[in-house]
Amino acid sequence: MSNEKVFIFDTTLRDGEQVPGCQLNTEEKVEIALDLENLGVDIIEAGFPISSPGDFNSVSEISKAVKKPIICALSRAIISDIDMVNLALKDAKRKRIHTGIGSSDIHIKHKFNSTRDKILEQAIAAVRYSKRYFDDVEFYPEDAGRADQDFLCKMVEEVIKAGATVINIADTTGYNLPEMYGKKIKYLVNNVPNIDKAILSVHCHNDLGLATANSIAGLQNGARQVEATINGIGERAGNTSLEEVVMALKAHPHLNLETGINSKKIVPISKKVSRMMNMPIQRNKAIVGANAFAHSSGIHQDGFLKNRENYEIINPEDVGLKTSSIDLTARSGRAALKHRLKLLGFSFSNVELETIYIKFIELADKKKLLHDEDLYDLMKKYN
Ligand code: KIV
Ligand code: ZN
Repeated sequence: MSNEKVFIFDTTLRDGEQVPGCQLNTEEKVEIALDLENLGVDIIEAGFPISSPGDFNSVSEISKAVKKPIICALSRAIISDIDMVNLALKDAKRKRIHTGIGSSDIHIKHKFNSTRDKILEQAIAAVRYSKRYFDDVEFYPEDAGRADQDFLCKMVEEVIKAGATVINIADTTGYNLPEMYGKKIKYLVNNVPNIDKAILSVHCHNDLGLATANSIAGLQNGARQVEATINGIGERAGNTSLEEVVMALKAHPHLNLETGINSKKIVPISKKVSRMMNMPIQRNKAIVGANAFAHSSGIHQDGFLKNRENYEIINPEDVGLKTSSIDLTARSGRAALKHRLKLLGFSFSNVELETIYIKFIELADKKKLLHDEDLYDLMKKYN
């Protein structure tokens, strides 16, 4: 069975950049957009043009600079927003508008003070108006994660009739559990008569730490586009992390889903986004955290040194790292110490290793992490 393509829609420069303190200037955004192109993303959401002249300018400059991916920009279901997206994307080689409106009763009542019927009308009108400018129209029913299933189906059916080509099932508040979100996608696949005319997209937030799991569940149930950000940055607890979805699909070939991402470019772009956006990556972050390929306990180090696959499901080279690392701490065993000392050029017998190991543990109990210089010192004292 051949693999099916999953489109990667990167929203680092829109949903990611909304985070306070993460704002970038136009030059920086163009640099990241070119790196995203290099990484192999299919769609770059470049910004929300009506939000500020600076954002308009960034979308416009990214449209000029980027050649291969589709450039997308956000709008509300409002004519002036849609007009602004059209102007900002004027120079894009391939373009898409991302327009939408709230779909849950909570949003309809408490955000728009409106009714389902009026919201549905506005949604249809926004898609129809967008079609004046764009062939490719992505529609987001905001807070679809908490929307009534049958109203959501109706909205999706009607906006597809109006010309939407991609439907983004936004779990705006990160409320869903993987099974719920997967069922939501399946329900749409089975109950919207014209669903085959559009691509279903997953857009998950990480409020319960489930954004990646929910996205994968959506893909397993028929979605074929995933919206994500580098390092999972985004509103509140963040968005789905691009690198996690890409590597999860790679690690599970039985899903028969593949992306066009060159995974070897993941670590470099992750570091750049973290540095430019002032968002440190937590050490234990999957795929790109400093500890993601570091082994620290004696049992794990011994097993890893016997065969990498004992403790690693991903080859670090596949994400752009040179090697895994073995941290030498008071939890390390003889195998790891011996391995590092040999790499540093020391030779010793197994009996000598026992004495060296005792000294090593004494030192490691005082200093949390031992570096090569500590080992040189240790060996000097021992010799
Ligand atoms: O989370 C969300 O609902 C969004 C939409 C604007 C797509 O980011
Ligand atoms: Zn979002």
